[in-house]
Amino acid sequence: MTTILDGTELADRIEADVATATDRLAEAGTTPGLATVLMSDDGASETYVSMKQRTCEELGINSFHHEIDPDKSAAALFERIDALNDDPEVHGILVQMPVPDHVDKQQVLERIDPIKDVDGFHPENVGRLVAGNARYKPCTPHGIQKLMAAYDIETAGKDVVVIGRSDIVGKPMANLLIQYGAGGNATTTVCHSRTRDLGEKTRSADIVIAAAGVPELVDGALLSEGVTVIDVGVNRVDANTDKGYELVGDVDFESAKGKASAITPVPGGVGPLTIAMLMHNTVKAASLQSE
Ligand code: GUN
Repeated sequence: MTTILDGTELADRIEADVATATDRLAEAGTTPGLATVLMSDDGASETYVSMKQRTCEELGINSFHHEIDPDKSAAALFERIDALNDDPEVHGILVQMPVPDHVDKQQVLERIDPIKDVDGFHPENVGRLVAGNARYKPCTPHGIQKLMAAYDIETAGKDVVVIGRSDIVGKPMANLLIQYGAGGNATTTVCHSRTRDLGEKTRSADIVIAAAGVPELVDGALLSEGVTVIDVGVNRVDANTDKGYELVGDVDFESAKGKASAITPVPGGVGPLTIAMLMHNTVKAASLQSE
């Protein structure tokens, strides 16, 4: 029997707690506010941002959406970030990644006031995370920790393989896994595009977290019996559907399910938790700024 790790159900529970905390803060005079900034025409980014806005509204969090023409200069984005840094109604700022090539991503992340950096991507917040003293845990890795905890999947002493070394998922995930305490204490290997023999690593893993952005990279042949599989991939692959594409994970679900004791679906696995943890961080930001 393979357990399907239901991210939607857990996200609903986390969001109910966030709504309660939001009400409490609002009664005390601070309604949490999240600003989303989109500088892209990419359809997937537009969808993600609108899902974040919608969830804010459902939970009583103020949502402020800003779009910057992707043909504009970096200065236009920086001016907007500066204004949001100064706006007392905005407690969290999220600039949807990726930004256009002519905009330096690192400069964007460093421009956001670290106390409003609900993604946890500012170097100050990355430093705190690595030091084991996170202020805002990055949303996707934090959601994965919550999902494993909810299903009593132990990480302590386990061999975990993270596939992908992105700043958004792979690197912070590996950092959380090696930390002391719940959801950590794992022996962690990070694999990436230059890894020589991926299967050798993944077949010796108790937990495989696939976050490479490569459709169906991981199949049953790469896995050992009883493994836990966490699929972070949300890849748009051309298909004969209404939208012209279908969403495919980094894992070939059917063959991986044949080996796994537990596995996340796509959609309905990690995705909803990313949004739930963003809402959690936004309320934390409002709370820190109302002290
Ligand atoms: N693009 C893909 N995932 C994310 C995320 O978690 N935060 C931001 N800001 N951009 C993203």
